[in-house]
Amino acid sequence: MGNIKENKTSAATFRDFMSLLERTRVNKGLFITGIILSFFGTAGSLIVPLLTQSFIDGFNTEMFTAGLAAAIIGLFLVSAVLDGISYYVLAKVGQTIIRRLREMVWDKFLKLPVKYYDATKSGESVSRLVNDTAIIKNLITSHFPQVITGTLSIVGAVIILFILDWRMSLIMFISVPLSLFVILPLGRRMGRISKQLQDETATFTGTSQETLGEIRLMKSFNGEAYERKSGRRGIQTLYRYGMKEAFINALLSPIMSTVMMFVIILIIAYGGLRVADGTMTIGTMVAFLLYLFQIIMPMTMFAMFFTELNKALGATERIIGILKMADEPDAGTAKKQEITFNSIAFDDVSFGYTEGAPVLENISFRAEPDQKVAFVGPSGSGKSTIFSLIERYYEIDEGRILIDGEDIRNIPVYELRKNIGYVAQESAIVSGTIRENITYGLREGEYSEEDIERAVQSSYASEFIGELEDGIDTEVGERGIKLSGGQRQRIGIARAFLKDPEILMLDEATASLDSRSERFVQEALDELMKGRTVLVIAHRLSTIINSDNIFFIENGHLTGSGTHTELMRMHAMYKTFTDQQFTRDQGLRT
Ligand SMILES: Nc1ncnc2c1ncn2[C@@H]1O[C@H](COP(=O)(O)OP(=O)(O)OP(=O)(O)O)[C@@H](O)[C@H]1O
Ligand SMILES: [Mg+2]
Repeated sequence: MGNIKENKTSAATFRDFMSLLERTRVNKGLFITGIILSFFGTAGSLIVPLLTQSFIDGFNTEMFTAGLAAAIIGLFLVSAVLDGISYYVLAKVGQTIIRRLREMVWDKFLKLPVKYYDATKSGESVSRLVNDTAIIKNLITSHFPQVITGTLSIVGAVIILFILDWRMSLIMFISVPLSLFVILPLGRRMGRISKQLQDETATFTGTSQETLGEIRLMKSFNGEAYERKSGRRGIQTLYRYGMKEAFINALLSPIMSTVMMFVIILIIAYGGLRVADGTMTIGTMVAFLLYLFQIIMPMTMFAMFFTELNKALGATERIIGILKMADEPDAGTAKKQEITFNSIAFDDVSFGYTEGAPVLENISFRAEPDQKVAFVGPSGSGKSTIFSLIERYYEIDEGRILIDGEDIRNIPVYELRKNIGYVAQESAIVSGTIRENITYGLREGEYSEEDIERAVQSSYASEFIGELEDGIDTEVGERGIKLSGGQRQRIGIARAFLKDPEILMLDEATASLDSRSERFVQEALDELMKGRTVLVIAHRLSTIINSDNIFFIENGHLTGSGTHTELMRMHAMYKTFTDQQFTRDQGLRT
């Protein structure tokens, strides 16, 4: 569990950022082309004050020929077009980066172990995928080029100014240390704040997504007041950080404009004197003022750039944190030996979700080919956990899990899961149609239309699908919300039929269905179990009695095994347990 929070502690460096970019394999040539093109736009704007100067100072009709006018207009047009192309090229670079980053993060999400998802809100993961990648893209495509062209603009303006009048230029440069003095500390603070803002946004996305996902729970338990409060808290936090950001911006812009005013006044005062004694033209003075803007503006952009760079470093840190997490372990693709997936055995297995808190201890059992074995025991004793371990959602701490005598750690995860059918306690349904749900995870060509039809028939799902207007192509809503519990279960069963696994794991739902649906589901399950090795977590007496072998799990320990009659004789707890089931089932049948 330690490595899951790891991404919060290590700070990303600029090197990490660059190596992350390196991994997106973005076309550097294209990026450089974009930057070079954007130079032209900047160069164009550097010429404007010079033109203004010559207009003011030496405007006469002889100089202003049609050819010159055409040249000026042409220059502007060309620089505008180049600007546009540069924008497009840089956008392409950015979109490529964001696409590659998202692909990498998404692929990683699919490979991370279940443990990661136990510890992380899904909304937070979504925020990594959507927001953090966007921040990096923004830095590369908009802030970085701005800094490059800004630098060009400053350097260009400075050179021109020194050529125009070096004394005047020196005076103007008073503004540089003044603005840096303001910009640097504020920029640093800003970076910290926006990083916190990012984190809070991710948390808020996470919690609100969870609430909206369980909206029925909220309504039925009148959770509005509570949720309003907790929602407000998140919103309030975001507001606070937003305001902190605003405060710094609010400081930054008036301070910058004051500095600018100060320099403008200096220039006008000094320039006025120079104009008066004839050592400088009015045009030059106006040009100076215009260049001043071209120097100050990019400087504020630098402040922004450092903020954005900090943000991007934060995002990089989180993305790298995710990318370097260990994948769920896999034996690779090579199957060591031909495994038929018929028998399954636990050999002294111990496991805990967290260290030092064992949930299963020294569990050993066997299920022979075509046998049906049942797990019975009180709630929370660890029955579903056994199934999770067989699916290899988690790694066991001690012992071995064997399939046909082969340790499952040596079996490719894909093969393992392909040959095991798992009908969970609550049938998992994804949004989409019933057909998409039944064929979920199977590849095109692995099933035919008749197979689907047979699965639907055998699972008794046809009974309700036939009544739906769109039949099997009916949309089921998010998590199958538009279906009843029994319908969802039958879709789950149909899915298992279509998958046709060698080993079947069945976690019977405890929720009682009405006796008609219950019978359908029961018959569907009986049908599904035929000719397979079946492990079933049994809550129904009928399932228990039919089993070849029953394992009684109590608080993570295997406390008894045998057939129903054997256990009835020898295991007091089992007897009480099944007696209760029996009374309940009796109640159900009448
Ligand atoms: N993902 C998890 N992370 C941490 N602890 C878990 C997790 N899943 C289950 N547990 C804990 O492990 C124990 C066994 O849970 P399990 O789901 O295996 O019980 P069960 O026997 O299937 O119960 P039920 O009959 O109610 O379904 C419980 O104490 C539970 O709190
Ligand atoms: Mg369970």
